[in-house]
Amino acid sequence: MLSHLQFPDHEMMSANTADIIADTIKADPSLVLCMASGHTPARTCELLVEKILNQGIDHSRLSFIGLDEWVGLPGNNEGSCRYFFEHKIFSPLQMDPSQYHLFDALSNDLETELRKMDQLILKKGIDLMVVGIGMNGHIGFNEPGTPFTSLCHVADLDEITTSVGQKYFKEVTTLSRGITVGLGHLMNARHLILIANGARKAGVVQRALEGPVDPSFPASIVQRHENVTIITDFEAASLLGKS
Ligand code: F6R
Repeated sequence: MLSHLQFPDHEMMSANTADIIADTIKADPSLVLCMASGHTPARTCELLVEKILNQGIDHSRLSFIGLDEWVGLPGNNEGSCRYFFEHKIFSPLQMDPSQYHLFDALSNDLETELRKMDQLILKKGIDLMVVGIGMNGHIGFNEPGTPFTSLCHVADLDEITTSVGQKYFKEVTTLSRGITVGLGHLMNARHLILIANGARKAGVVQRALEGPVDPSFPASIVQRHENVTIITDFEAASLLGKS
């Protein structure tokens, strides 16, 4: 089942997304949560931390999986996914390192990183997965052409991803590969939430929800998921129903 919740602006969609995540943790304190980083979920993360702390929600048994990472970037680089989660979630919630699982993008054995994450996900399962959508329709670093059955893998990033990705960095940064949880794991997540905001995402949201379901546009996979919630602001939803 696919449902679409729309809110007037990024703040309201972030507050509602944070509510859903917080309520899900409340209902199942040993939840396995897999999340994207990036500009779309940044406010959701801040509000989620506020809600967890203000409501005293038990997060001591929460397991967290980082969706992806730029290969070769150290975790102290402000544009890395590790930096994002450490500052927005792990440190404010004082999470124990045993609770979170991120790809080591500096590893010289990425194959082992991939298999470790695959095994973890196959063993625990992902209860809730919160993802964004890129300007080329990617989810995580599942770039156009990635098979819908893919497990964790290293991807050569396409030109749109490497150029749009500069927005996370203070200086021009060489980005060429990403390590990511694959679309096969996404399909098995018990609940999938895709979030998008802003007018510039309207075209990709329309293509994801109303276009052909095809690996050339990875986010179209949401149309096949059994339990997916799309959460957008009005701008990102502005082209829906117009083609
Ligand atoms: C980041 C990630 C990416 C982003 C996507 C949208 O961890 O997985 O797929 O979700 O590129 O990025 P923003 O939210 O910055 O527009």
